[in-house]
Amino acid sequence: MPDLPIVFILNGPNLNLLGTREPEVYGRETLGDIKAAASAHAASLGLAIEFRQSNREGDLIDWLHEAGEKAVAAILNAGAYSHTSIALHDAIRAISIPVIEAHLSNIHAREAFRERSFTGRAAAGVISGFGPDAYMLALDGAKRLTQKSAKQ
Ligand code: DQA
Repeated sequence: MPDLPIVFILNGPNLNLLGTREPEVYGRETLGDIKAAASAHAASLGLAIEFRQSNREGDLIDWLHEAGEKAVAAILNAGAYSHTSIALHDAIRAISIPVIEAHLSNIHAREAFRERSFTGRAAAGVISGFGPDAYMLALDGAKRLTQKSAKQ
């Protein structure tokens, strides 16, 4: 069987603590639970995933560059770096694959400082506020975007 197209799923700071971190905001599912669900959903779409988490901005930048070489799309939940990082914005713009921004919470229904997303400005699209399903919806989006570009 030919290798499945790969989607990188990159997670930023504090997302390693999902499950115990502010469960009233982020729920009780762990990042491991989300990885397992995303892996199964990707397989149902004919995609493979590379799932990573780092608390360091530079890792996320390096991994976006790597995704640009190896993946058909990337899903990025940059956590709070979404609201601060012009370097991540530039990294998204520097690669030619579509990047979909995902957030568990609805960043528009929270503190004002979360309303602005630098990474969202550079992303192909943003999904925010569906809990862990945000990752599944982002995979659906990645599938659709890559099918469309394959047709062109
Ligand atoms: C988050 C939203 C961000 O504002 C926050 O800093 C996070 C998580 C989310 O998935 O809802 O760390 O990206």
